[in-house]
Amino acid sequence: MFDVKNEIDLSEGHEGLVIGLFDKPEKFTGTLEKLDEQFEGQLRELVRAGDISAKFKNISKVHSFGKIGAKRIWFVGLGKEKDLNFERLSEALGKVFKALKASKLQECGVLLDSFTTGSVNELEAAHAVSEAFALATYQFHGYKQKSNEPEKRIEKITVYSEGNDKEDISASLTVGLAFGKGTNSARTLVNIPGNLLTAKDMAEYARELAAKYDFEVEILDKEEIEKLGMGAFLAVNQGSTEPPKMIVLKYQGKEQWQDVIGLVGKGITFDTGGYSIKTKAGIVGMKSDMGGAAAVLGAMEIIGEIKPEQNVVAVIPSTDNMISGNAFKPDDVITSMSGKTIEVLNTDAEGRLVLADAVTYAKHHGAEYLVDVATLTGGVITALGLHTTGAMTNHETLYEQVLEASMEAGEPMWQLPLFEKDKERVRNSKVADLNNSPGSEGHAIVAGAFIGEFTEGTPWVHLDIAGTATTSKEHDLGPAGATGVMTRTLALFVERFDPIEK
Ligand code: BES
Ligand code: ZN
Ligand code: ZN
Repeated sequence: MFDVKNEIDLSEGHEGLVIGLFDKPEKFTGTLEKLDEQFEGQLRELVRAGDISAKFKNISKVHSFGKIGAKRIWFVGLGKEKDLNFERLSEALGKVFKALKASKLQECGVLLDSFTTGSVNELEAAHAVSEAFALATYQFHGYKQKSNEPEKRIEKITVYSEGNDKEDISASLTVGLAFGKGTNSARTLVNIPGNLLTAKDMAEYARELAAKYDFEVEILDKEEIEKLGMGAFLAVNQGSTEPPKMIVLKYQGKEQWQDVIGLVGKGITFDTGGYSIKTKAGIVGMKSDMGGAAAVLGAMEIIGEIKPEQNVVAVIPSTDNMISGNAFKPDDVITSMSGKTIEVLNTDAEGRLVLADAVTYAKHHGAEYLVDVATLTGGVITALGLHTTGAMTNHETLYEQVLEASMEAGEPMWQLPLFEKDKERVRNSKVADLNNSPGSEGHAIVAGAFIGEFTEGTPWVHLDIAGTATTSKEHDLGPAGATGVMTRTLALFVERFDPIEK
């Protein structure tokens, strides 16, 4: 897929040559200057005349008229050099790769040093190139008899880098590609409809991942889940004809099984709301209610590829939330694996129930730090909109590490508070230890507070991705549909994780 060359030979043939252009005309130095010489100074003229634009994310396609080996040059506007960071670079690259794909190119060259600045070096730019390529050209093929897939796709990218060791650039390209591919796998899992991705299918997928990357795998079936007393998880599955699966993957990158990070993902393959049934508008799209599980599986794929020196246990409670004569009901009282009893006030607040047992089970497997990811509440959309993941925590230092990873991954998150008064609201029940739905005021917060009850002092970050897991609009780094949000954040967080003194 990627070929790295240390020498830039402008006579080399390419269907397209991709070059970044900063909004600073005097930057016509180095390779750009050599290139302009081949054009007898006309490229500089085109920039001056505005035919080639350096405005951020503007794409200018210029025919080479045989003056260099490449047939066309694709200039990517990068805006002001001082404003460029990894996230903005990824967007600009995503946009040009989309354009190349639309023009049915099958190969291209990329001048890596044209994309670097004081804040983005060549290795980071290489990561951005391969990651953005994978993300931007992702497509979910769907189930139409006649595929609308373009016949031609980019099969080969030659990356020119004069400044760095070839091996180092190659390694960065490989890592970037792993991040892109892992995110795309998460997207595909979310895009598959509920009838074609049941808990059993998700377990099968996890098994395959485990076989590929040599993870330890444990899939609990209904009987084992019953034996362990996971009454909260079982209640959600009670109305279903599909048996539940508790999926566990373990990656051991350290000699000892210590400093274990638990990644917990909500894996509701379809959420009808149960007896607290959703509206006919609100129910559509609820195949995406396993977006947290998808992010965790996507991150595990990246972890399998990059093999960080960390220990990770991934726990995914998977079931659908259905209605039948057997289904659980409002007013039911259930007992979680932790022993805590729960009064069910709303069967549509099912995510926190399955996560309660999953958090307990992650601890059972040695998790000393927890991050859960879930399409948990409509409330987070009201609070933060569709671009920002909601975060809650019981441990600021752990949160800082997750936040840092999210900023680097370009997946924004914002913290919501968890005050004693919020905790009191979930502890308020006449018949049980907890209730699962204390009312609609600040309900993203109380959902987080509910899960927090099961962490029992273990440092924990909760990520509510109800607003960010899918998008109705195409964007620079992907199509409409699943975003794969938090896959890259989780993987980066794990890669960089620094155990915290407790
Ligand atoms: N799966 C939903 C949350 C959701 C909403 C995800 C919109 C994606 C888009 C969750 O299980 C749910 O139904 N939450 C309820 C909680 C309420 C009953 C307290 C909600 O947010 O309305
Ligand atoms: Zn629900
Ligand atoms: Zn749900």
